[in-house]
Amino acid sequence: MTRALDNPAAWGRGESGKGKTVVIDYSSPNIAKPLGVHHIRSTIIGAALCRLYANAGWRVVAINHLGDWGTNFGQLMVAYRKAEAENPGLKVDVQSLLRLYIQYHAAAEEDEGLADEARAWFKRLEDGDAEAHRLWQLFVDESLKELRRLYDRLGVRFDAYLGESFYNDKIEPVIRVLRAKGLLKTSEGAEVVDLSEHGMPACLIRKRDGATTYAARDLAAAIFRHENYGFARCLYVVANQQDLHFRQVFKVLELAGYEWAQECVHVKFGMLSFGPGVFGEEAATGSTRKGQVVFLEEVLDRAAAKARNIILDNAREEEIRHQADRLAEQVGTGAVIFSEFLQRRAKDVVFTWEKALNLQGDSGPYLQYTHARLCSLRRKYEEAGGGAIWRNGAPLLLSSPLEKEIMLHLADFTDTLGRAVIEDEPSMVADYLLDLCAVFNRFFTDKERHRIVSDDEKLSSQRMALVEAVRLTLARGLELLGLAAPARM
Ligand code: ARG
Repeated sequence: MTRALDNPAAWGRGESGKGKTVVIDYSSPNIAKPLGVHHIRSTIIGAALCRLYANAGWRVVAINHLGDWGTNFGQLMVAYRKAEAENPGLKVDVQSLLRLYIQYHAAAEEDEGLADEARAWFKRLEDGDAEAHRLWQLFVDESLKELRRLYDRLGVRFDAYLGESFYNDKIEPVIRVLRAKGLLKTSEGAEVVDLSEHGMPACLIRKRDGATTYAARDLAAAIFRHENYGFARCLYVVANQQDLHFRQVFKVLELAGYEWAQECVHVKFGMLSFGPGVFGEEAATGSTRKGQVVFLEEVLDRAAAKARNIILDNAREEEIRHQADRLAEQVGTGAVIFSEFLQRRAKDVVFTWEKALNLQGDSGPYLQYTHARLCSLRRKYEEAGGGAIWRNGAPLLLSSPLEKEIMLHLADFTDTLGRAVIEDEPSMVADYLLDLCAVFNRFFTDKERHRIVSDDEKLSSQRMALVEAVRLTLARGLELLGLAAPARM
């Protein structure tokens, strides 16, 4: 407790990562379509890991491995050119790109020729054709514009956007290494690395038509990252479904003699779905092709609208009404973010408004609300002319079992943050914060034995110190997870 109060800015900071670099590959959506529900988790979990590693003293390199290459770009080109021919001077944004994408898939079910056309366009792109490149650039630019807006809203940042296309000229050298090591085999015209001895299907490196694969790009990316950043760890925050992909990629790296392959970690997570009522009556998981995509932005907007109502219903101070919009954004976003951390990441998550916005417990808004309450306690103490908050050595008057329990819990903060890094598990921080609030609230509501402010000035000032230490811990924990900690709510 005294450590928190003596140096709030350093509270919770660890040193385990001193001198080491971690590369964190997260969010990494396939672009030219809106950010869908499956990328929410990677974005939120990855951003929390970036902050937690930095807090533990690591140098963090956050990379967005955008899916910005592949035959789907050829499909979009076919659809776009058709639309442009019908409507010269056509302007697009991410939403209209999605509509084009959906139209293409509907049309392709009727017309088999379209798939060939799309492949031909992708081939032109691969061969450096100017028109194909112009369209590709347009799609990329529009997508990035939208992505950046969302990332800003979530407080998420990257050190580098290095999408799959970045590795176009870095794959051949990798293939040469694999060949030199005798790892490449030809199988039905495709080039693969046989992994049957390791209990896995072969890893496809180059397809029959000569196109390189997702796996080949990941091999090139891992080598690039190791050469450029000299990482001690490289995390891939990607859904459970890609388990096999990453086991294959890491195994191929190991077979090719890259010892650092053992430092590559697939930080996997379960599926996110939305319970009934979140977007109308049906539960939704989102499939981009059919257009049932749940847009992250829509979730955030709805969350903010709901949070706004809750805030206005509960507002006891005029000032809160004036800040309702900003608070609603902080609480709404906080609700969405925190719901990612309610269970271990490998588990599936069903998002519901009842859980996400529950002010009584186990939600982001509940923690934010508790934090605001502690702020108001302090304001009242100061307004009532309470003396300085205790700072001088051990607070010996805090001796009840509950007070000791709170102090013990506080003393575990730094270690908890360190464990969350070892296990790549931000939910451990969420658990910690919820427990902290639970003990604190027992203390707070037990007015008989624990009047925080009383005639005993010395005791009051020590109890306020405890309040302040809990507040600082909550604020720091929320910040690390990506939530704002407003002073009033
Ligand atoms: N773009 C991929 C997807 O949306 C995820 C990429 C993850 N990162 C990686 N290096 N493979 O499924």
